[in-house]
Amino acid sequence: MTESTTEPARQDAALTGATTEPTSAPPFPQDRECPYHPPTGYEPLRADRPLSRVTLYDGRPVWAVTGHALARRLLADPRLSTDRTHPAFPVPAERFAQTRQRRVALLGVDDPEHNTQRRMLIPSFSVKRIAALRPRIQETVDRLLDAMERQGPPSELVADFALPVPSMVICALLGVPYADHALFEGCSRRLLRGPGADDVDAARVELEEYLGALIDRKRADPGEGLLDELIHRDRPDGPVSREDLVSFALILLVAGHETTANMISLGTFTLLRHPGQLAALRSGETTTAVVVEELLRFLSIAEGLQRLAIEDIEVDGTTIREGEGVFFSTSLVNRDADVFADPETLDWERSARHHLAFGFGVHQCLGQNLARAELDIALRTLFERLPALRLAVPADEVRHKPGDTIQGLLELPVAW
Ligand code: HEM
Repeated sequence: MTESTTEPARQDAALTGATTEPTSAPPFPQDRECPYHPPTGYEPLRADRPLSRVTLYDGRPVWAVTGHALARRLLADPRLSTDRTHPAFPVPAERFAQTRQRRVALLGVDDPEHNTQRRMLIPSFSVKRIAALRPRIQETVDRLLDAMERQGPPSELVADFALPVPSMVICALLGVPYADHALFEGCSRRLLRGPGADDVDAARVELEEYLGALIDRKRADPGEGLLDELIHRDRPDGPVSREDLVSFALILLVAGHETTANMISLGTFTLLRHPGQLAALRSGETTTAVVVEELLRFLSIAEGLQRLAIEDIEVDGTTIREGEGVFFSTSLVNRDADVFADPETLDWERSARHHLAFGFGVHQCLGQNLARAELDIALRTLFERLPALRLAVPADEVRHKPGDTIQGLLELPVAW
């Protein structure tokens, strides 16, 4: 573990989010060379587990948590804030610096306000509610595979399957018209990947305006879905404000399709690259539920969860100082050899269930039951319906996303 080297000048800079001198600590985040393995540039962090110094794009030194036990401890620690409006809140790339000016529901709010927001939404994501959605998810998956088969191979799996499955499902759950998918999928893409800060900001404004107008229409003309329930259900503490409704809709819509789409595309690619493991799935030796859990651990697509220390925190002789940024490398945490034996191997025999791919603590993924159901149905049905599924291009030509956003594939050309 590295000792804290934060000098007072650096601390001041960290408190204002200002640029500081570069350090010799490894840059973070880095791009993966292989879409399903952590970057080789993270090797020094593995050697240093569970806590290392790393350097952000602007030279600011922050902490990277890489050990499983420490990640659980710190993700449950209220001295680490997720308030993204704080001027010192650490961001993984320059294009996100301006987002500090805008409030993000749930993921950008600390308790007790966070708890109030989360309690409003939890019933819609319960195991029971999601189980009731399974026939609808299956129907969506079947329809998309029918269309793929009608058009015949080859197919681009991201556009034809991985993205529309979660996109259609979250639309149905929220009560957002899927006919508008080009707009909100485009906004989500720019919100996460830019390329510039202006693109991120413009995408957010466009998406907020779209959702605001949708909410206004729903007020006048109630429909079905979570947004309608939030608008029209009587609540003891009064109606939910328009601003909060837009903010809930935005995070649920973006988190609800981007993440799962990446898991479907990258999960399919990973299975096609591991024929022995795929054969065990096809023969029924293992269940899709087991496969999904191990893929969540192995792929850790939500890499680099961000927090800000709002008090000093002692960690086994090292001090994380107030004002310092903390990133959680889920890919390294989920490859902690003390918890997952032989962590580089995709292994259906292990118990992967305690991975932190959905985070941990009060901000642990609200949509995890939904994501698990979608992945279970999508992957099982895809390989059942298209048993000869294969890559249509060499594996090293499959382009993947950069390290400073949710991990996944840009395209996945397949044939069968
Ligand atoms: C496989 C797919 C998914 C992965 C890997 C994933 C991962 C995560 C992670 C790691 C967090 C915690 C972030 C942090 O602590 O900084 C999170 C939070 C969240 N996720 Fe997911 N997610 C997935 C699917 C979904 C879906 C389908 C939804 C549906 C609405 C969703 C909604 C949310 C929300 C609202 C939060 C914030 C919760 C809070 O702050 O209380 N996610 N997700």
